[in-house]
Amino acid sequence: MESNSKPRKSHVIRIIAMILILGSVGIRVVECREAMILDTIDYPAISCRKHSAVLTDFGGIGDGETSNTMAFQYAISNLSQYACDGGAELIVPPGKWLTGSFNLTSHFTLFLHKDAILLASQDESEWPQLSVLPSYGRGRDAPNGRFSSLIFGTNLTDVVITGSNGTIDGQGASWWDKFRKDELNSTRPYMIEIMYSKKIQISNLTLINSPSWFVHPIYSRNVIINGLTILAPVDSPNTDGINPDSCTNVRIEDCYIVSGDDCIAVKSGWDEYGIEFGMPTKHLLIRRLTCISPDSATIALGSEMSGGIKDVRAEDITAINTQSGVRIKTAVGRGGYVKDIFVRRMSLNTMKYVFWMTGSYGSHADAGFDPKALPKISRINYRDVTANNVTYSARLEGIHDDRFTGICISNVTISLTKKPKKLQWNCTAVEGRTVNVTPEPCDLLQQKEEKTDCPFPDDKLPIESVQLKTCTCSLRIFRASF
Ligand SMILES: *[C@@H]1O[C@H](CO)[C@@H](O)[C@H](O)[C@H]1NC(C)=O
Ligand SMILES: *[C@@H]1O[C@H](CO)[C@@H](O)[C@H](O)[C@H]1NC(C)=O
Ligand SMILES: *[C@@H]1O[C@H](CO)[C@@H](O)[C@H](O)[C@H]1NC(C)=O
Ligand SMILES: *[C@@H]1O[C@H](CO)[C@@H](O)[C@H](O)[C@H]1NC(C)=O
Ligand SMILES: *[C@@H]1O[C@H](CO)[C@@H](O)[C@H](O)[C@H]1NC(C)=O
Ligand SMILES: *[C@@H]1O[C@H](CO)[C@@H](O)[C@H](O)[C@H]1NC(C)=O
Ligand SMILES: *[C@@H]1O[C@H](CO)[C@@H](O)[C@H](O)[C@H]1NC(C)=O
Ligand SMILES: *[C@@H]1O[C@H](CO)[C@@H](O)[C@H](O)[C@H]1NC(C)=O
Ligand SMILES: *[C@@H]1O[C@H](CO)[C@@H](O)[C@H](O)[C@H]1NC(C)=O
Repeated sequence: MESNSKPRKSHVIRIIAMILILGSVGIRVVECREAMILDTIDYPAISCRKHSAVLTDFGGIGDGETSNTMAFQYAISNLSQYACDGGAELIVPPGKWLTGSFNLTSHFTLFLHKDAILLASQDESEWPQLSVLPSYGRGRDAPNGRFSSLIFGTNLTDVVITGSNGTIDGQGASWWDKFRKDELNSTRPYMIEIMYSKKIQISNLTLINSPSWFVHPIYSRNVIINGLTILAPVDSPNTDGINPDSCTNVRIEDCYIVSGDDCIAVKSGWDEYGIEFGMPTKHLLIRRLTCISPDSATIALGSEMSGGIKDVRAEDITAINTQSGVRIKTAVGRGGYVKDIFVRRMSLNTMKYVFWMTGSYGSHADAGFDPKALPKISRINYRDVTANNVTYSARLEGIHDDRFTGICISNVTISLTKKPKKLQWNCTAVEGRTVNVTPEPCDLLQQKEEKTDCPFPDDKLPIESVQLKTCTCSLRIFRASF
């Protein structure tokens, strides 16, 4: 255990190699050299920690075969004693660290060295069961239980999961296979889930092949997610990238996501369970996202949105070979709302739909949903969009007797595929306006009186002002050399 209370200023990775020659001058009896490599890494974080430890201090073995579940649990429970004494950082050094699910603690940083790979165990007994989420009322794959996520935290304050682009490999293939064969009695684990928590950072990591969703903050506030590379096969089931769910004050920046489901899916609970729980997702900022997802959305709002989604801002969004841009998904029975959504500067290439809203998504938690619970969709703003190689410009499908209102689309240039569909703007039960949009939008969006661009707020969301500190992580690697 060492102390690193004085973070260094430098931003570069310094590797200081020192050769310690053991054995005193002139005496040539012992000729043993030990090389100590001191790897010092500066990293940005919401909090730096006074105490630091390495997984190997707690019996961790990075051979890719030995389970480290107990080592993680032992390490984190030991380091939890520093919560009120400057906090602690657990470093995962180079190696392949097989592990089942483990729980985090408060005032804690998990740091993955660039050559560290966490490998998720395939042994179901390494994954404890949790009760279903109250705002969902059931597990998504199976009604009764759900497996705890690989990295799990609940009721925490001030947690950082980061690294110098180390890797977490969910080894999801066996789970996808069981899911497809309908062999699961419990809902697949997520890669990272943080519940009922505040001050959370998840950053600078490569996450691959999650069994299901990758990053799931739920019932939490003040969450910063940045610098994640998230990769899963584009045909893998439900491998959503980042799913902020019933969260307030969330900032997602500089992420690159290739997945088999929505790159980002904003949620807030499902049908009667989500309505009753009543916790919205709000004050969400998404910036500089790149998405590849041929069968899903760049950013989905829903379909589980029964607690409401409001005040979302998304800008500088790139999508390539993706089904749609920012898509609203909802249904009769969801209740809740999606409102005050602001999107600007999307650059899209090879898209089935640029704009897509679906009021008939279906997919209910159970038969107990209330057919009178209609979602309210209003004030949805898109501006400054270019899209190339597009099949359909828009499919905007509101709900009969529950129109989607206040849709505003401005400064949009869409180029179509070689064989475009005839009906480019297919609109039902929607209201709103368009300005400077090609190809020509549908009549329902031709309200002409206002000619100004769609709004994007000038003020800042509170989470935008949170600054990261520069912390330093030092790792001694000893290598015997003769
Ligand atoms: C766990 O914490 C105690 C202090 O309470 C410390 O003495 C001990 O060395 C720690 N265990 C390990 C394996 O580092
Ligand atoms: C992790 O937290 C969950 C939820 O509080 C709990 O059920 C589980 O037993 C914890 N696991 C460990 C290993 O402490
Ligand atoms: C976590 O917080 C929630 C909401 O405040 C509460 O209902 C729950 O009992 C807490 N769980 C634990 C393990 O403290
Ligand atoms: C992190 O690693 C991934 C996978 O190797 C790579 O694609 C990505 O560019 C890296 N990110 C940074 C910031 O180096
Ligand atoms: C799932 O439950 C069924 C019936 O309860 C049981 O026969 C089956 O073995 C279980 N499968 C697994 C993978 O636990
Ligand atoms: C972490 O990612 C950000 C981009 O979000 C990048 O600017 C920063 O240099 C990265 N830091 C490290 C230590 O890799
Ligand atoms: C229209 O959008 C493009 C990006 O697609 C942007 O470069 C341009 O500045 C916008 N024009 C106006 C008037 O905002
Ligand atoms: C355009 O989109 C079609 C699918 O509609 C795809 O097959 C083709 O490769 C794309 N072309 C380019 C140049 O990206
Ligand atoms: C237009 O949209 C409606 C509702 O989404 C759909 O049922 C219909 O098939 C679409 N029509 C065309 C020609 O794409």
